Amino acid sequence: MSSRQRRRCCSAVWRPLADRGLTNVDFQAVDTPRWQVPEPFDAVVSFDAIDDQADPAGALTAIHRALAPGGLYLMLEPHAASDLAGNLDVPTAPLLYAMSTLHCVPVNLAEGGVALGTMAGTEKLTDLLTAAGFADIQTTVPAPGDPLAAIFVSRKPTA
Ligand SMILES: C[S@@+](CC[C@H](N)C(=O)[O-])C[C@H]1O[C@@H](n2cnc3c(N)ncnc32)[C@H](O)[C@@H]1O
Repeated sequence: MSSRQRRRCCSAVWRPLADRGLTNVDFQAVDTPRWQVPEPFDAVVSFDAIDDQADPAGALTAIHRALAPGGLYLMLEPHAASDLAGNLDVPTAPLLYAMSTLHCVPVNLAEGGVALGTMAGTEKLTDLLTAAGFADIQTTVPAPGDPLAAIFVSRKPTA
C-alpha cells in the first residue's frame, strides 16, 4: 500500500469515528508480519485476511507476538478443505476456486508470496496456526450463518 493509499484509507475510517465522538478506537495500516505492539492485546481478530498474505506464517507469528499469554485469536477464513477431493461436495467451492485463481493467487504471486489462495483450507491453516505457536485450536466449519466461512479460535499458551 502506498503512503497516499494509506492516508486515504485511514481518513475514510477515521471520519465516521470523529462524527460519532468515539475516542477509544485506533486504526493503523501495517504490513502484518512487521506488526509490533507496545503492549500486548488480550484478543486479536482477523477476517478473510490470512490466506491473502504474501507471508501468512510471518503474519501469524506477528499476531502471536501481539497477544498476551493466554490471549485469544479469532481467525475467519473461507470455508474449504485443503485438498480438492474434500471440496467436491461444497456447493460454493467452484466460485471460491475461481476467485482464488483469478484474483488472490496472482496478486499474491506478484508480491513474491506463497500464494495460499482462497482455498487454503482448514488443514493447512490449522498447521500454520500450530507452527506459529497457537494452541487449543477450535474450528467451526462452516461458520454459523455464513456457509462461505470457517472460524478458528485459538490461544497463545500461558507458558
Ligand atoms: C479478502 S481481503 C479482506 C478484507 C477485510 N478484512 C474484509 O473482511 O472485508 C484481504 C485483505 O488482506 C490485506 N492484506 C494482505 N496482505 C497484507 C499484509 N501483508 N499486511 C496487511 N494487510 C494485508 C489486503 O489488503 C486485503 O484488504
